[in-house]
Amino acid sequence: MYVCVCKAVTDRQIHEAARGGARTVGDLRRQLGVTTDCGRCASCAHECLKEARQCDAHANACLPLAA
Ligand code: FES
Repeated sequence: MYVCVCKAVTDRQIHEAARGGARTVGDLRRQLGVTTDCGRCASCAHECLKEARQCDAHANACLPLAA
């Protein structure tokens, strides 16, 4: 799903950025360009990043059990 239409950034890219260390919308702005055009994606990008971080935290917590 596209989160930022202007820069064609998807939720998958945001999840990857979160895994790579992105912690704020500012990090996403620098890495992917979200919010640098019309800015309408700011709140959606924030929510997506929050979800990605929760997903990763959950995945990391479950990794030892899955191995
Ligand atoms: S939708 Fe992201 S800058 Fe326009």
